[in-house]
Amino acid sequence: MQHYLDRICAEHVDVSDGKLADYIPELASVDPNGFALSLSSADGFIYESGDAGLEFTIQSISKPLTYALALDQIGADAVDAKIGVEPSGEAFNEISVDRTTKMPKNPMINAGAIAAVSLIPAATPDKRFALIQDFYSTFAGRRLELDEQVYASEKASGSRNRAIGYMLQSFGVLDDDPNEVLDVYFRQCSLRVTSTDLAKIGATLARGGVNPQTGRRVADAAVVKRTLSVMVTCGMYDDAGDWVSAVGMPAKSGVGGGIVAVLPGELGIGVYSPLLDGKGNSVRGVRVCRSLSEQLGLHFLTVARHSRATLRAVYEPRAGICVYEAHGDLMFSGAEHVVRAADRQRERYEVAILDVSRVDDIDDAARELLSAMGSTLRGEGKAFYLVDPDGIVIRSEPELEVIRFHTVDDAVEEAQVWLDQNRRVSLD
Ligand code: DON
Repeated sequence: MQHYLDRICAEHVDVSDGKLADYIPELASVDPNGFALSLSSADGFIYESGDAGLEFTIQSISKPLTYALALDQIGADAVDAKIGVEPSGEAFNEISVDRTTKMPKNPMINAGAIAAVSLIPAATPDKRFALIQDFYSTFAGRRLELDEQVYASEKASGSRNRAIGYMLQSFGVLDDDPNEVLDVYFRQCSLRVTSTDLAKIGATLARGGVNPQTGRRVADAAVVKRTLSVMVTCGMYDDAGDWVSAVGMPAKSGVGGGIVAVLPGELGIGVYSPLLDGKGNSVRGVRVCRSLSEQLGLHFLTVARHSRATLRAVYEPRAGICVYEAHGDLMFSGAEHVVRAADRQRERYEVAILDVSRVDDIDDAARELLSAMGSTLRGEGKAFYLVDPDGIVIRSEPELEVIRFHTVDDAVEEAQVWLDQNRRVSLD
């Protein structure tokens, strides 16, 4: 997996299209070459590539989280009375409301996000911000801190957002003082995260509101379902249709250069690269997500199968031999789960046997991970056999250099021969 991520980063290292967000002056001072990719499995295992420790401001990636907090605190009906769920097809900072309802079209554009802030019940702006900061931090599994410079810069240059705030007040969407609501909105956008925080936030959404690392339920499953739905239709603004067709994951971008993408039930992805396209999305971030989705088969409309229910049994028929029995459909994240289980238990065996005789379907990403597992084990002086009677993993044998058997018994016999020979060699 690590090789996979490093390879995808290497493929995009030269992408330098786009420009830094400069309408918030402080954002124009970041290193344009910063680049990081992190991935969290649904059980909280983290992979990182590039500048994964580098902090940047969360910006609009805050919007789905504040929306989730509003849903959690006051319920969907009260939120729906103020913010719609329709894609706007407009820029993120459009000064507009829905023509008929006179409400913001959705919570992912600034108008809807500012309205969502005003729905968090709190006696003062500081208390409201504290609730927001605590909520985001539980998703990331660590305390997220405010970037004072970016906050000051946003506050000093936020005329457009102020225009949106006053417009919302005039339509009766904002009950509170627009300046106080905006102050909290500027602060939420200025919280600092890393690509790994985004992957963890994504994985918490992927797990329906349970942070896989801390084990804490931080939001209701129904709240997360609604939040992910709006991310699918509105998360990438006027690029949403293209994104869903090409990448196929609920996602949210921010002008700080981050993107979070979620494969429900499977993965959270965080990417950082601050050069943006005209829609405010990270150019390289979007391309990396496209590649990840294509190469790992992550599009949510093709992975609606039992890709996690793959490792049915692990057993040791003889000392030094471990059999991993997979079943169902073996897609990328299911294969990652199998490979990681075998990797974790590498002290237990000299020969690993992967039994795919009950696997119905497999994709190229899973095939590649399994063959990489074979070469890694061989590189460590171990043996790796495959029980694949129908040839679903191995279509042509020289292709993957894996020894293939028709039954587990045959593979175990051969493993025993290998063990006897290699033990003798090590005794000699
Ligand atoms: O309201 C703004 O302009 C920023 N604080 C956030 C905008 C943003 O991140 C748009 N996303 N791509």
